Amino acid sequence: SRRNILVCGGGNGAHCIAAIAARTQPEADISVLTLYADEAERWSKSLEQNPLKGIRVHKDGTTDEFDTKPKLVTKDPSVVVPSADMIFMVVPAFAHEQYLKALAPYVKDNTILVGLPTKCGFEFQCRSILGDKTKTCSIVSFETLPWACRILEFGTSIKILGTKDTIGASVLKGSECTLEKSDILDKIQRVFGEFPKILPVQNYLAIILMSDACIHPPIMYGKWGKWDGTPLSEKPLFYQGVDEVAADYLTKVSNEVVATAREIARQQSGVDMKDVVPLIDWYKNHYSDQLVDDSSLMRALQTNKAYDGLIHPMKETSDGKFVPDFSYRYTSEDIPFGMVVLKGLALLAGVDTPVMDEVLAWAQGKLGKEFIVGSELEGKDLPQSRAPQNYGFKTVDDLFKF
Ligand code: NAI
Repeated sequence: SRRNILVCGGGNGAHCIAAIAARTQPEADISVLTLYADEAERWSKSLEQNPLKGIRVHKDGTTDEFDTKPKLVTKDPSVVVPSADMIFMVVPAFAHEQYLKALAPYVKDNTILVGLPTKCGFEFQCRSILGDKTKTCSIVSFETLPWACRILEFGTSIKILGTKDTIGASVLKGSECTLEKSDILDKIQRVFGEFPKILPVQNYLAIILMSDACIHPPIMYGKWGKWDGTPLSEKPLFYQGVDEVAADYLTKVSNEVVATAREIARQQSGVDMKDVVPLIDWYKNHYSDQLVDDSSLMRALQTNKAYDGLIHPMKETSDGKFVPDFSYRYTSEDIPFGMVVLKGLALLAGVDTPVMDEVLAWAQGKLGKEFIVGSELEGKDLPQSRAPQNYGFKTVDDLFKF
């Protein structure tokens, strides 16, 4: 029988994987489930008239174009989920819950559920919403989206501006899932094509601990923690603008993350956390040929060519100046689906995180939320985060029961 690949979502990433899968897997049926507004109707209508065009920019600047035809776009999970062998979840993290609830009644045994990207705490939410079905399927967690991509015209064309060389992913195989672990990433690699090359990461906790959420919030805090509210005349550089203060927060948060990983590995025999490394080492490994000066974390960030020109998220004021935009994903996503989850793991492991606590206390104020109180996750808005504590995880041991 034909293989069925399902894409959940209707944004940039969903268009991109739908086009790429339709191209790399001509023998499979590619469907899209989008629950948001009238996206399913609009995309279906567009497919009646036009193919979905992929425009891919290569490293050397050349582009190629390809026309694809996903089989079906729908908002009805009962039509597409029961037959899905592989499900790519490609929506911002706040929408995961809605999709998981829609999938839950229909997911069949041995389905591969892919968080693309996963964002922190996805696996906890899967276990909570899918219940026992988590045991019969596998959850694959990607550290980021493999492509930088933008919809040119909804349902009609997607531009793939860049493709990562490599990307880390972990496989959390349910205790009753009968797929071969090694086959799972191979199957996804065939969908992606040659690039990015998938690098297996030992476990989903390592993906969480090495997430962007330990980078973006400390940089925001370093920049805006003592800001006096005066609008700026220019948008400041994000990574390249990191100063001693921000680099110090980054280093200290990274130390707390590494300590948490070590403690989890110490408490759980057989668990390997070697992929959780100090941030400076991570930069040297991932961006070796892009760092002009790697003598310190600050210099590595300031001189990373991959970060050329990336700026802080800013809003323009009525008189043409700029103030920081705290609703951007560096805080709105990277706190509840990021650092709060890291903090939750540290609490389970029994590791003190005074610097993370300081960053969290500041960032939650900017979001108008309360997750942390002192050094405990006892804020009233904790249920809006994906801290493991929300899902009944009480010990390090619990983190390995899937
Ligand atoms: P996007 O911003 O294109 O997502 C928009 C889509 O999300 C909408 O089309 C809709 O399907 C869904 N959505 C929006 N509001 C919703 C709501 N209220 N309820 C339910 N669904 C709603 O997201 P994109 O660009 O596809 O990114 C997906 C993930 O990948 C994000 O976590 C993003 O941070 C990450 N990412 C994206 C990159 C890119 O180049 N697009 C690069 C790196 C990471």
